[in-house]
Amino acid sequence: MSWTKAERYRSLRDVSALEMETLRTKTAASPWRFGYHIQPPTGLLNDPNGFTYYNGEYHMFYQWFPLGPVHGLKHWYHVTSPDLVTWTDRGVALVPETTEDSHGAYSGSGFVKDGELHVMYTGNHRTDDWTRHTSQVIGVLRDGKIERRNVAIPDVPAGYTEHFRDPKVWLEDGAYYAVVGAQRTDETGCVVLYHSVDLDDWTFLGEIKTGLDSFGYMWECPDVFELNGQHVLVFSPQGIEPDGHRYHNIYQSGFLIGKLDVETLTFTHGAFEELDFGFDFYAPQTTEQDGRRVLVGWMGLPEIEYPTDRFGWAHALTLPRVLTIEEGMLKQRPVAEMTTLRQDTFLDASGTSISVATPDRYELEVKTDGSDFTLDLLQVENESLVIRYDATAGELTIDRTNAGEPFATEFGTTRTKAIHVTSLHVFVDSSSVECFVNDGEAVATLRVFPSELEKQLRYEGATASLTGWTYQ
Ligand code: FRU
Repeated sequence: MSWTKAERYRSLRDVSALEMETLRTKTAASPWRFGYHIQPPTGLLNDPNGFTYYNGEYHMFYQWFPLGPVHGLKHWYHVTSPDLVTWTDRGVALVPETTEDSHGAYSGSGFVKDGELHVMYTGNHRTDDWTRHTSQVIGVLRDGKIERRNVAIPDVPAGYTEHFRDPKVWLEDGAYYAVVGAQRTDETGCVVLYHSVDLDDWTFLGEIKTGLDSFGYMWECPDVFELNGQHVLVFSPQGIEPDGHRYHNIYQSGFLIGKLDVETLTFTHGAFEELDFGFDFYAPQTTEQDGRRVLVGWMGLPEIEYPTDRFGWAHALTLPRVLTIEEGMLKQRPVAEMTTLRQDTFLDASGTSISVATPDRYELEVKTDGSDFTLDLLQVENESLVIRYDATAGELTIDRTNAGEPFATEFGTTRTKAIHVTSLHVFVDSSSVECFVNDGEAVATLRVFPSELEKQLRYEGATASLTGWTYQ
């Protein structure tokens, strides 16, 4: 189905309760609704936004188009959690309805000031001739709604195009900094930095100088933070060509580790690394609480049709991951709180050939001796999602060629990572798999749309021990 502009740019304010109810019914009739991931009540979810710990709870917002599985007028939806694993629905927090955000309240971040949760987001405006104008807007959460405070950055500075968005704010030495994802007028991507002492006046400090002068045409969703004594710059570059086993998704998300000098804006760093070697991961955002840096991504990508589209909804957020740098390497581990979701143990076995009927949603730990193995998940009739390790090549492959309803096949149906594997930690939900390798050395996230029949897990290969827990 193709959507007209008028259909895409309808606000929630113009939708009747009856129409919303019809959309909810259509969504609820979908197979593949998640058990323990953040998913939209209807319509399309994309980037995580405003991820902040405030008043004893984690607040998460996300980009939301309520009316269908397309990128239309973006609202912010709100959920909260005491523990990062059980989430309470708080409803829509931001309906775009000012000149600045007339065509979407785009992505942004959260921070606490004077006891209130603030957000800074991108107002996306289109003129009558559809020319884009972006500005960066600050709002405050009051009674569950984001109230507009001020337009912090009304215009794009000289040298950049209107692809200028996704501010990530942090507080340092009593002043605020914000990085913004940008496109230079020569159509290369970069990140710029702003500074403010009062949230009213913002000074453009300039571009963060990295060694990647020409690395894609746009950098979305930047995030900068200190981790274990180093600086990390996370961003989502668009326009990177596939290179060996890397960069096979339509757009990428990755990071640089190094040292940012805020005086000279020079960022000295190592190589760009992808955050996730799966098929469906984009636009992550982090927050820090009690010294723990937690990252959540969008479990999806733009410009791709997914099988849930026909039920009027699309996408989810990933599980939260804790980031650390150990021996120069970024590690990503599922938050420890995940274990509170464990119900009964449906599998606890060791050997070279293991097969068991699985619940629809589960957690699985696999420890091997480092030799070859094949792990078939979600196996039913001739469907299965295959995780294959070739110890001689030192390569782990995720193969979703026959994993249920096909989609996005033009981007390939396998993903491979060069890594010596001794353990996997896998989270299966109704239509997703997140696979952590070697205690956080690498992660692969992917959507799968299997049939509804009872599924099997099959392991063949190196002597391994497997433990599995049912999730709701
Ligand atoms: C990333 C992104 C952001 C933008 C938002 C709009 O997926 O394109 O750059 O703010 O989505 O929904």
